Amino acid sequence: MVTHCRLRGLLLLLGAVAVAVAASHPANNEFCAATGGGGAGYGCGSGGGGDVARILIKGGTVVNAHRAEEADVYIEDGFVVAVRPNIPVGDDNVKVIDATGKYVMPGGIDPHTHLEMEFMGTVTIDDFFSGHAAALAGGTTMHIDFVIPVNGNLTAGLESYKQKAEKSAMDYGFHMAITKWNDDVSREMESMVKEHGINSFKFFMAYKGSLMVTDDLLLQGLQKCKSLGALAMVHAENGDAVAEGQQRMIDLGITGPEGHALSRPPVLEGEATARAIRLAKFVNTPLYVVHVMSIDAMEEIAKAKREGQRVIGEPVVSGLVLDDSWLWDPDFTIASKYVMSPPIREAGNNKALQAALSSGILQLVGTDHCTFNSTQKAFGFDDFRKIPNGVNGIEERMHIVWDSMVVS
Ligand code: URP
Ligand code: ZN
Ligand code: ZN
Repeated sequence: MVTHCRLRGLLLLLGAVAVAVAASHPANNEFCAATGGGGAGYGCGSGGGGDVARILIKGGTVVNAHRAEEADVYIEDGFVVAVRPNIPVGDDNVKVIDATGKYVMPGGIDPHTHLEMEFMGTVTIDDFFSGHAAALAGGTTMHIDFVIPVNGNLTAGLESYKQKAEKSAMDYGFHMAITKWNDDVSREMESMVKEHGINSFKFFMAYKGSLMVTDDLLLQGLQKCKSLGALAMVHAENGDAVAEGQQRMIDLGITGPEGHALSRPPVLEGEATARAIRLAKFVNTPLYVVHVMSIDAMEEIAKAKREGQRVIGEPVVSGLVLDDSWLWDPDFTIASKYVMSPPIREAGNNKALQAALSSGILQLVGTDHCTFNSTQKAFGFDDFRKIPNGVNGIEERMHIVWDSMVVS
């Protein structure tokens, strides 16, 4: 993952105001030194303030990982300088934002997105501007997207994603997908880590005929990740069996979105998760399993962790709160919205994934934000295999997790 910092973090006032700030914390008393410091307030006239941007967020409930507290937040030039109750203001150079009755929290990081991604014969509809606007509206201030190589070439892929990201409005980073294997790819992986700061690589075990890799490639990739100290990530579904399952559905005359779920059941996610975990164990390298959607996959991760293996499991908001009943909606436009891979599972999987997240079996929440409009989804009107796979979430992630797992 390489990061590109436009802002240095963000505090969000839920429901009202978003303010760009940073997380560093210089010693408090240096800020009023010119006026004698002591008990004086911040922004206390040390020569007019010039172009120093000062913001005081007053009266909110500051939420951090360790606790929530009633406190003000004082920010200078994008850095959080102080968090404590009743911070006095010294002069008019401070912009005061009233956060009474609101939560003030650090901006979130979405570790899994696909903005302007070429996929299944089309391109995701949110780009690095509209996706960022949505993210910021929902309190996410950074995301990590997946660079897709161009014809297997990593450098060309990175160049293409840098161009896409020129319209960015917030912080972002890159993982990189590995879709082919040869000596050039091996060398390029090294260059990505050492020269470009990209140190997480995703291997798709599904999407036969396009992004899917064989076990042979996965093994080479895991070994390369180990030698580089990079993190291997997997989309864990058995792509060969998925292709078989899809054909079965078509042969049965099932062509609608429900065929998507029926053709790639949890057992195929569980099998691939177990296989990837065992190969990572064989290579002795950590593994990150993206979009864990089923109890089957989650239990493989739990078992490996119990045995001391380093496996990171990432649920996504759709998997945490939705269920597959949407895929049976008789209205194609509705049902097709919920087509993603691995599929959104039967009710019960969502609550189990929430419990696993609460207890630390799963570690962090992404979205797999990969949006297509209804015209694009309609490419698969007669054949679910052609419905572009992907759902939204970059805007909703934080408030959905807050609402379903904290407030409730
Ligand atoms: O359906 C999905 N998940 N679309 C995005 C590509 C991927 O597999 O992450
Ligand atoms: Zn995937
Ligand atoms: Zn994805």
